[in-house]
Amino acid sequence: MKTPRATPGTGHLASWARQLERSPLQKLLAQTMQPDVLSLALGLPDLDLFPQAVYLEHLALVLQHDPRALQYGPASEQLKTAIVKLMRERGVRCSEEQIFLTNGAQQGLSLLVHLLLEPGGMVLLEDFVYPGFQQVLAPFQPAILSVPVDRQRGIDVDAVAAILQSGARPAFLYTMSEGHNPLGISLPFETRRQLITLAQRYELPIIEDDAYGLLSYDGPTPPALRGLDEDWVFYVGSFSKTFAPALRAGWLIVPRQFQLHLSVMKEASDIDTATLSQRALASYLGVEDFAAHLERLRTAYRSKRDTLLAALGQHLPSYARWEHPHSGFFVWVELPPALDTTRLFEQALAQNMAFLPSAPFSVTRQARSSLRLNFSHPTHESIWQAIRRLGALLESNEA
Ligand SMILES: Cc1ncc(COP(=O)(O)O)c(C=O)c1O
Repeated sequence: MKTPRATPGTGHLASWARQLERSPLQKLLAQTMQPDVLSLALGLPDLDLFPQAVYLEHLALVLQHDPRALQYGPASEQLKTAIVKLMRERGVRCSEEQIFLTNGAQQGLSLLVHLLLEPGGMVLLEDFVYPGFQQVLAPFQPAILSVPVDRQRGIDVDAVAAILQSGARPAFLYTMSEGHNPLGISLPFETRRQLITLAQRYELPIIEDDAYGLLSYDGPTPPALRGLDEDWVFYVGSFSKTFAPALRAGWLIVPRQFQLHLSVMKEASDIDTATLSQRALASYLGVEDFAAHLERLRTAYRSKRDTLLAALGQHLPSYARWEHPHSGFFVWVELPPALDTTRLFEQALAQNMAFLPSAPFSVTRQARSSLRLNFSHPTHESIWQAIRRLGALLESNEA
């Protein structure tokens, strides 16, 4: 008789991995991608705004003229130079030696967390956090300190100060100064200045996630946090929202002394940055008018934001509250505490409409009565229809 062959089970997994599970929400998320669902759920760029034809020309050029285009290779110096120039738009002065190229902002975040956080260490977060960052933190099982966020003034600087004054020394604070995901907030200049003062006084590294920083719609923005301090702010940038996510092109700006540590960690993780897309992007940025491309994006997304705000004004009940986002891809809507948006999400999906409920963003998972709406990806018509359905759904819940 054959003895049954042993197979690996969860007992073989690292303790943090054992705790991973697909939430009911993640299962439903796949359904938001169905073609008949009017989805305002995910943060995808508009398909029609990718500079596909021009990119193809640069990809072809690189493949024709660069014999090493498909080889392992060092990070593109040409791309770093283009990023140094681009960063001036965010009020940031930096040099090529401070730029570290990554495969998207997500990898940048992961590298920074590995660089700064001990397993079981302590981190400082806002009470609503991009879930991709929470995933990066999970293996470290950190102690989490969180501070509230005011819908207009942004992160509660007094709460940050109180934590630091109490003697707590988190490994870093993670935040966004422009186009916050999920809250849609852009920090007033005064909040930025106060945060930097605290970072300097208490030697607190700040991870500034600026994935949406270049997508602002209402005139000039204050400088990024990195523009106010170059020692304590670890900046994370990305071409995903301004060019195309499929390129996996992002960057960090970090003090020179950490470049070596980052290169060793990145090599262990995936050896190289996507060499081909980096070179094609560098070729594009070298000759095309990226400023004009950004203006096109801003015009299109500003108009979609305005459509969403108009639709909310027309179809949502008077108890719903939202702010006017100046940057990014999202509007955050607050509903009365009795409304559980995770349940509402399931009801909406049954009517072929989707948003994201607040629970996965909430650090405690307890904040359940808000929702995030995306305006970058759906058409104007879909936005109107989706919000009409959401309004009707909220009305039926009142009845
Ligand atoms: C706040 C934030 N940070 C980082 C990322 C990851 O971006 P990338 O595609 O550059 O990895 C996203 C993607 O949606 C995001 O919303």
